[in-house]
Amino acid sequence: AARKKIIITIDGWSSCGKSTVARQLAKELNYVYIDSGAMYRAITLYFLRNHIDWTDIREVREALSNIQLDFRFNEQSQQSEIFLNDENVEYVIRDLVIAEKVSEIAAIREVREYAVKQQQAMGKKKGIVMDGRDIGTVVFPDAELKIFMTADNAVRVERRFKELYAKNPNITIEEVKNNLEMRDYIDSNREVSPLRQAADALVLDNSNLTMEEQLNKALDWVSVKIR
Ligand code: DC
Repeated sequence: AARKKIIITIDGWSSCGKSTVARQLAKELNYVYIDSGAMYRAITLYFLRNHIDWTDIREVREALSNIQLDFRFNEQSQQSEIFLNDENVEYVIRDLVIAEKVSEIAAIREVREYAVKQQQAMGKKKGIVMDGRDIGTVVFPDAELKIFMTADNAVRVERRFKELYAKNPNITIEEVKNNLEMRDYIDSNREVSPLRQAADALVLDNSNLTMEEQLNKALDWVSVKIR
């Protein structure tokens, strides 16, 4: 018999390795991986490019009505990539310019409603791993497996710095540290669906775990849920 398909949510602080675990878990289980943060980043890119005044709610609504987001699987990179109005923006949205504004835009109620609705539709058929901040609490409160990831601050800063430095050697560790702290602060203190650990989430602290150890731990949790 086919194994039961479930919904797996992975929430947690910025840069603690959620997407790496989520992507590998999806690959292992033959599930769809959805990076919900990419949606907020793509919306931010659109707002910046089109000089949207996001303090004006009518402008926000109008802008959202002109945004079409979708994820397409890239055979070459073997991963799903986000498209903003038919343009592949998977790489440009990782820029620090976007990271500096995304938390502010992700805190807007209309923006969240827009994104959450689409995220919920993607989970209809189950067999999905989605990572973000509010996936286990708001998007899929009934998910079968909820993981909450954390890692020591210093470890997170170091990891993100290495990632960004590879693309831009002018970046400083201070900039990266400030951005992470600011995002965590805004993400966990906003009014609409702040970052919270769901009561039924299992905690995965990966400060001292290899990728393989993290994946095995997650797979152990999955096996209990699909039994
Ligand atoms: O996961 P990420 O760092 O790419 O996410 C970028 C930002 O988007 C993050 O700082 C907060 C916001 N976000 C959110 O509010 N809710 C989500 N489910 C995912 C991301």
